[in-house]
This record gives sequence, C-alpha cells and structure tokens, in this order.
Amino acid sequence: MAKIIVEKLVKIFGGNPKKALKLLKDGYSKGEILKKTDQTVGIAGVSFDVDEGELFVLMGLSGSGKSTLIRCINRLVEPTSGSICIEGRRIEKMDEKELRRFRGKKIGMVFQHFALLPNRTVLENVALGLEIRGIPRDDRHKRSEESLKMVGLIDWKERYPKELSGGMKQRIGLARALAIDPDILLMDEPFSALDPLIRNEMQEELLNLQEEMKKTIIFVTHDLDEALRLGDRIAIMRDGRIEQIGTAEDILSNPANEYVAKFLQNVDATKVLTAENIAIKPRETLRETEGPRTAMRKMNASDSDYILVVGRDRILKGIVLMEDALELAEKRERDVRGIIKEADTIDSNVLIEDIYPIIGKSERCLAVINEDYKCLGVITRRSLISSLAEERGVL
Ligand SMILES: Nc1ncnc2c1ncn2[C@@H]1O[C@H](COP(=O)(O)OP(=O)(O)OP(=O)(O)O)[C@@H](O)[C@H]1O
Ligand SMILES: [Mg+2]
Repeated sequence: MAKIIVEKLVKIFGGNPKKALKLLKDGYSKGEILKKTDQTVGIAGVSFDVDEGELFVLMGLSGSGKSTLIRCINRLVEPTSGSICIEGRRIEKMDEKELRRFRGKKIGMVFQHFALLPNRTVLENVALGLEIRGIPRDDRHKRSEESLKMVGLIDWKERYPKELSGGMKQRIGLARALAIDPDILLMDEPFSALDPLIRNEMQEELLNLQEEMKKTIIFVTHDLDEALRLGDRIAIMRDGRIEQIGTAEDILSNPANEYVAKFLQNVDATKVLTAENIAIKPRETLRETEGPRTAMRKMNASDSDYILVVGRDRILKGIVLMEDALELAEKRERDVRGIIKEADTIDSNVLIEDIYPIIGKSERCLAVINEDYKCLGVITRRSLISSLAEERGVL
C-alpha cells in the first residue's frame, strides 16, 4: 500500500518561478532555464509512490536534486508545484501548525552532518527531539534509552559526543530520529562521511533494524553500491528528474536508458545480487506423500540423482537421493517420508560473493530459502557460474 505519493513535484529556486515553470512545461532543459531566467530547477516534475514499510532509495550524482526532493517531502524545502500525499493527507496544503504537528509525530530525519551538542550526554542528545516536542524528562529518557538500545549504544548513554567515533555519532543521529517513533524516516546521505568498513557495518545494521521496524524510509545516497544493497526500490535521478525506478534486479538487468546503463558499468554484481536473484527453478520437486517410484521418475526427467521435497506453500522439507529411493522402491514403501534427508540451504539474502565458499562445500545443490523456510529456488555450481556470465554480459 502506498504510504507516500508524490505527484508532478517541481521545485524552482530563485524566487521567480513563473517563467521557469512555463519553460519547464515546454521541455527546456535545466541549463537553458538557468540561462534564460536565472532560476535553478531543483526538481523538474517527479512522480513516485513509496509503499508502507519500504526502503526507497534516491540516488544520483551531486546536484541531481536528491536533497531537494527529500526535503520537499516534509517541506523543509517548499515545493513550487505538485503534490505530496502521506496517508491521504496533502502535505503541501497544510498550514504551519498542522505541518509542525504532523512532522513531529510522523517523520524522523537523519542527515549526513548533524550537530550533537558537546556539553550534553549521549542520552540527552538522543532525547533532544523529544525535548523540543515538550515530552517530560522521565518519559523522554525512557524512550531515548529504548532507541539507544536499538542502535547498540545503550552503554554509552552517560558519555559525551567527543568520546564517540564517526560511526557512533551517526548511530546517535539515527537513535534521535527513532526516539520519536516516526512512521517515516527521511535519511539524507547518513553514511556518506563514514569510511568504507564502518559504512558497510552501518548498512548491515540499518537492514537488520528495518527487518524489525518496518518503517517507511526514503534514503538518499550518491553511492550506487549502497543504493543497490539497501533499496527495496531505487530511483535514479538526473537534473531534477527520475530516470528510472525499480528494484536492484530490474535496474541491473534492464537499464532504462544510456545514462542509467553508464552508471551501472562499475557495479560488481557479486556484491549486490543475492542468492534469491540468481536462484533457478528446480525442474522437478517432490511431495512427501509421493512414492519412491515417482521420485525416481522425476529425478530421471530432470537428469539428476537427487530431488528436493517441498510441502504446502513450497516449504522445504528436505532432499531425497536416488540411491535411497531405489532401496525404498524394493521395500515397496508407499511414500518417501522415511528417506528424506536434510538439504543444504542458503538464505535468500546472502550476497553472491558469499555463496562461493558455501557452494564449494555442498555436494549437490543449495536450496534458497526465505525466513519462513520457503524454497525460492536452487543454486548449483553450474547455475552460479552461468548466471554470473550472464550478468557480466548485461553489465
Ligand atoms: N537553496 C538553494 N538555492 C538555490 N539553488 C539550490 C538550493 N538548493 C539546491 N539548489 C540547486 O538545486 C539543484 C539540486 O541540488 P540538491 O542539493 O538537491 O542536489 P543533491 O542531489 O542533493 O546533491 P549532493 O549529492 O551534492 O548533495 C542543484 O542544481 C543546486 O544547485
Ligand atoms: Mg544532497
């Protein structure tokens, strides 16, 4: 379900948008409009939805309009035209008071650089947002402790900002935004100032947190690897427009135009695609109520000496081997239940680069499973290699 709906959003900087708007409608470029009117096109008319619980990434080069767009969502930047609708409420139509109340309850924001107050403890810094909202001391400290726990820094609550590393400071920023328990998080390059290792850690942590929180997040980055790793969907921006919106898979396998394709040239597929992305459908699967002869026939048909057993909703039950099925058939057993062995499995969200060492140890295939143990497909050594070859072709 769409939580945020942005329609035909335009932002012209310069205080005199009328002529610029007209030129924009007539198809003039950002550069031409600047020359003719001295107005800067920040956002040139974008429309998109963000679903409830989605982590939506805005990505693009410097100046493409990411910050302007994310700031229009809560009107830190006033849109020139177009609409922003959150849970059916029109943000651009709210008066000051309504807007303040709405922001205070619904929207948390995390920036690349934000000020921690040096003379206040970590806890007091986290509580700042609540303090501004007039929440009593005990209550705000309790809630801030909760959010410090979420980001793993509860032991630091009595310390001062100067004792923290850059990564920890960013976590404090996140904790501060989380303390108000907003439905929506707007994150503008929160990890960009961190060095690569810490940044990786933070990405991982955000994904873990998001599994629990299921917030609706708009996340800005100019880093494509970060976008592909984090985004449920990604919007690629250029000159105030959105060039393409899609999942990492969509965008990698089907770039909308030259510009996007060029962007993708330097991506290392093994670092962004997951087991789920490259899982193939097994030719045949077996039900545990089926018999050994059916199992053997299906294995023959798929030219294999094993077969995966799945239950209702494709829940993985295990694997049946040809030799066991043969033996069972001689005993005239009705079904294969007694010979199901544990299958080798891999979580659907494991990155390809981490699949190599695992598949090396597996004798047959890896069953790709999600958190409910549902079998999404299989990966074999051969399928792994050929899917990579294919990706290279694409990229
Ligand atoms: N306050 C402002 N006044 C005038 N022009 C602005 C203002 N803020 C942004 N712009 C212009 O709007 C365009 C989009 O800028 P924006 O900051 O949104 O880009 P960005 O994608 O966030 O870039 P970066 O990756 O550098 O943060 C740029 O051309 C910029 O010069
Ligand atoms: Mg920016």
